Amino acid sequence: MNSSGDIVYSLTAENGAVQFKDGEKTKTMGYNGSFLGPTIVVKKGQNIQINLINHLNNEQTTFHWHGLIVPSDMDGGPHSPIDAGKQTTIAFHVNQEAATLWYHPHVIGKTAEQVYLGLAGILIVKDENESKLGLPEKYGIDDIPVVVQDRTFTDTNQFDYEKDYRADGTAGNTLLVNGTINPYIDVTTNEVRLRLLNGSNARIYTFSLSDNSTFKQIATDGGLLNSPVEMQALSLSPGERAEVIINTDKMYKNGDVLSLMTGDIAVLKMQIGERKDTKNTMPIVLNQLPEINDFSMIDRKIVLSGMAGMVEINQEKFNEHRIDAYGTVGKREIWEIYNQKDMMGGMVHPFHIHGTQFRIISRNGISPAANERGWKDTVAINPDERVKLEVMFIEKGIFMYHCHILEHEDNGMMAQIKIE
Ligand code: C2O
Ligand code: CU
Ligand code: CU
Repeated sequence: MNSSGDIVYSLTAENGAVQFKDGEKTKTMGYNGSFLGPTIVVKKGQNIQINLINHLNNEQTTFHWHGLIVPSDMDGGPHSPIDAGKQTTIAFHVNQEAATLWYHPHVIGKTAEQVYLGLAGILIVKDENESKLGLPEKYGIDDIPVVVQDRTFTDTNQFDYEKDYRADGTAGNTLLVNGTINPYIDVTTNEVRLRLLNGSNARIYTFSLSDNSTFKQIATDGGLLNSPVEMQALSLSPGERAEVIINTDKMYKNGDVLSLMTGDIAVLKMQIGERKDTKNTMPIVLNQLPEINDFSMIDRKIVLSGMAGMVEINQEKFNEHRIDAYGTVGKREIWEIYNQKDMMGGMVHPFHIHGTQFRIISRNGISPAANERGWKDTVAINPDERVKLEVMFIEKGIFMYHCHILEHEDNGMMAQIKIE
């Protein structure tokens, strides 16, 4: 252990108020501030220590690291609540490749509301392979986190979670990106890297560019793809991330605006400014991920069913005192996730597993699209679809798997596996 690589952070969950709009400030929650939290940057191989403080008024919270491979007692799942006014310290070793991960609370029955009020943040892992590639990495200049969320404001600019609550997932009518309405950036480089996070409770976004040009997806939830994938549209369900590179050279003169869109709504306006950097560096090879093994046997079958308050996993609702499955550390398993359709047709469930990064083997027997062949921790499962995953845990302990529509998760569409 090299102590010079140790990093110490403090993360405080607190109540706040934000001037999102003219008029009254909006009451919020955030980490080390009023809404969302700081981007935490760690390097593979580092030892991290984080001081977790709950300064919320009278409510418990947890600090969960979505996508991070950590021992289960550091994972901040529902078993690790921190009472209001209390603090604790966790420590872990970063043992995974460069990726865009995130953090958010995971308290039983309260996750959706706490995230809605602003508790979420980006966690970036860096490593040597990635830094050798010459990808854009000037934070805030050509390497930009884009946290996409939807919210509804009352007449007095407040969030009214109870009023807007929907058991199938609370959706808003106003887009917030990194906690702002109508954001834009000034682009000074030929290539811009966006780290997209769908941090919404329920809404699925399909991103495209305002001139319909293509962009390159370079990473999935858990790291770089083997090579860039050219895309015209990219869908992300709640919890999913993707890194994309947008090329702004030639086609745009100073003052032009190119927007990242979802449908006809601009997510992020990119104003093309004075170019300071005109290199185009996009490597052809980004990573060396192993082949995906298509074993025909299935080790574990998981059925997602129901709607609203009736959602279940394998016909049961979450019970924190019940272990739903047992697994073996270091053992490669095939999981089949089936989204059981109902008379209403059903809905998409973003299926997430804690403490691991998996690969998608197939969707209804067909190999996944090129941009889904990287490391994943969350996968959108369509109604009546069977998705096969190659899953392995390298840490022991209890890990959650659940639907990432946060109201479904709070309504019990969650289960836990004990890895021994
Ligand atoms: Cu994004 Cu169980 O979490
Ligand atoms: Cu998670
Ligand atoms: Cu769901």
